[in-house]
Amino acid sequence: MHNQTAAVSNRHLLHEAEAYIRQFGIELGRSSEETNHRIAQIAADIEATGTYVHTGEELAYGAKLAWRNSNRCIGRLFWDALTVQDARSAETEEDIVKAIFHHIEYATNGGKVLPTITIFAPSAEPDRPRIRIWNEQYIRYAGYKQEDGSVVGDPVSLELTEACERMGWRGAGTAFDVLPLIIQLGDEPPRLFEVPKDIVLEVPLVHPDMPAFEELGLRWYAVPFVSGMRLEIGGLHYTAAPFNGWYMGTEIGARNLADPFRYNMLPKLAEKMGLDTARESTLWRDRALVEMNVAVLHSFKTKGATIVDHHTASKQFTLFAEKERQNGRTPTGRWSWLIPPLSPATTGVFHTRFDDTELKPNYYYQHAPADL
Ligand code: ARG
Repeated sequence: MHNQTAAVSNRHLLHEAEAYIRQFGIELGRSSEETNHRIAQIAADIEATGTYVHTGEELAYGAKLAWRNSNRCIGRLFWDALTVQDARSAETEEDIVKAIFHHIEYATNGGKVLPTITIFAPSAEPDRPRIRIWNEQYIRYAGYKQEDGSVVGDPVSLELTEACERMGWRGAGTAFDVLPLIIQLGDEPPRLFEVPKDIVLEVPLVHPDMPAFEELGLRWYAVPFVSGMRLEIGGLHYTAAPFNGWYMGTEIGARNLADPFRYNMLPKLAEKMGLDTARESTLWRDRALVEMNVAVLHSFKTKGATIVDHHTASKQFTLFAEKERQNGRTPTGRWSWLIPPLSPATTGVFHTRFDDTELKPNYYYQHAPADL
């Protein structure tokens, strides 16, 4: 980098760092001496090396704030209870995969899901990641294009599945094959790792009072681990910072299994239910949708896997917003994401307006890896 460009980016980094360290100090009750001292130290580190290193506490609180600031997330009441695994010392792909497997086991916790994040070493530039996990989630099902153009499995995974196949992987070809992980260090060739079956908790879907539902052969994985997003704290870019919460039922029942461009199961379920699908006005889609969501919630409960229904989640979000106000902060949120895709107007969030200001720290989408 030219000296002048370096100076500009150093100034920008210090500016971001200072804003975060001040917020950290205020919220955690640190003295202004301590905060000023830390900022001076960071300024010196940036001057000398072009970057700085978060303390364990700064890292952990930053990850929590990034969750608290995630305007699209309805589950933020629990932001302060995030478990943070500091994996910045993981250097090889093997080290990284080991931390990922530990994350999966710890957070799955036999079904009693624990919101957890694993944070790997940051990158100097957001667009030139030092570590990148190609998968958008640790656990997702493969999608296979058939000769007739139809898809077996999850259409959202078509590209990643093809990338895995180019790297020599072959799935069983069912609608629910868990994809392997692809990890890439800098510009090195990406490497592929199979996730051990015994650490992946899945829930076969059944309906409490419709035995025939089981014949659809549906299942879903218990925990959503978002692994493709970048965590930004105090100007540092953690391009590999996978995190998980627990599912809200509608994510699976009203989107993953219902969207026409995903598993598209409503027509098949309506048929099992004996509904008249010839006319939209029978509301067969809506009736099938409700029963699909009943089955998801019931099956997770039966299996002992944490899940929240959208009514409870909406109430929890209202409580989160109240708590934020009590602490002198304006809660931020994006209405179009906070409302559930099933019966939205029956929930409180539907009838509330939100300030969609984007605060930092936060989680951001990243470009798909160049070779994907
Ligand atoms: N909507 C995504 C999915 O269905 C998961 C996103 C994160 N969800 C969560 N409850 N933390 O897989």
